[in-house]
Amino acid sequence: MKVKLKVKRSNGESGDAAYSRYEIETADNATVLDALIQVREYEDGTLGLRCSCRAAICGSCSMRVDGHSRLACRAKVIAITRGKEDHEIVVEPMGNMPVIKDLVSDMEIFWSKVRQVSPYLQPEGAVPEHEYLVPNEAMIDLTHTMNCIMCGACVSACTVLEVDKSFIAPAALAKAYRFVGDPRDDHKHDRLEYLAKVQGGIWDCTRCNMCVEVCPKGVAPMDRIMQLREISIDEGMTGGIGVRHSKAFSENIRRNGRLDEARFLPEAVGFFNVPRLLSELPGGLRMLRAGKLPWSHTLPWHKPIGGIKSVRRMFDSIRSQKKGKASS
Ligand code: FES
Repeated sequence: MKVKLKVKRSNGESGDAAYSRYEIETADNATVLDALIQVREYEDGTLGLRCSCRAAICGSCSMRVDGHSRLACRAKVIAITRGKEDHEIVVEPMGNMPVIKDLVSDMEIFWSKVRQVSPYLQPEGAVPEHEYLVPNEAMIDLTHTMNCIMCGACVSACTVLEVDKSFIAPAALAKAYRFVGDPRDDHKHDRLEYLAKVQGGIWDCTRCNMCVEVCPKGVAPMDRIMQLREISIDEGMTGGIGVRHSKAFSENIRRNGRLDEARFLPEAVGFFNVPRLLSELPGGLRMLRAGKLPWSHTLPWHKPIGGIKSVRRMFDSIRSQKKGKASS
C-alpha cells in the first residue's frame, strides 16, 4: 500500500518549523507509527519521534494525525485514508505543549499539572496490619481513570488550555477524581476544596468534549470533571462563581428551553454586581457583532420555546431522581 505523509518538522531550539513530505510503500495493516518508523529507518534518519510499546500501552506515541490527537500506534493508515492513496496524512506534534524536535513534545506542562493534584493516596490513621480493604463498587467506579496511560492526547486537544495556561487540564483532573473517589484516601474534602477554588480548577472546563473524543482508553476526563463538580456541591462547596453559573444556566433552560442571555449573566454574577456586569459588556458586544448572540435573545421578554413543558418535566424528573438517591 502506498502512503503519503506530510510531517511537521520543528527545531525546538530555534523555533523553525516546516513540513516534510514522504511517500512510502507499507503493509496494508500498517499504523501511522509503523509508517513513521519506516521513514526514519529508510528515508530520513533525522526524523524525531517518540515510541516504545507500539501497542497502545505506554502512551509515548501521542501526536496529531490529520488534526486529531491520538496514539500513532493505534491509528491504522487504511482507516484514515479509506484506501485512497492520494490522501496525504498530516502528522504534527501534540498541541498545548512545546516541541523539543519534530514529533517529540516537551511534556513538562502535562506532568506539572499532574503533580499539582497530589496524585497519590493520603490515608490517615494507623496502617492496617494486612492490606487496605476496599468495596468492589468503589474500585469499579475508578477503573475508568485507572485506565489512563498518561499519553497526553486529552491535554493536547484541550481547548481551555489553549487560552488559559493555568487550567489544570483533563488528565490531571481525571487523576484527581481517581483519589477523591478512593475510600482509602482521607483528604477528599481538602482535595475538592482546592480543585473548586484554585484558578484553573474544575469549574473552568467548558465541556467542549474534545478530551472525551480523543482519549484512547475511554477515561472520558470531562465526565470525571463533572463528577468532581457534583461531589463538591454535595460536600457543600456552593459559594463559587462556577456553581452560580451552573445554577443560573440550568434555571434559564428550565424556564425558557434556551439560554436567556439578557438574564443569564446577572443571575450568575448577581444583579447588583455592577463592576462585573460592566466588565463583561465588551465581550457581549463582540459576541453580538460576531453573530454568536442573536439580538432576539438579548431581549428580556422573549417567550419560552414550544414544548417547554417537556423540558421542565425532564428537569423535575432528574431532580427528583437525585433527591431519591440522596435520601436512600
Ligand atoms: Fe506505546 Fe503507542 S508506542 S502507546
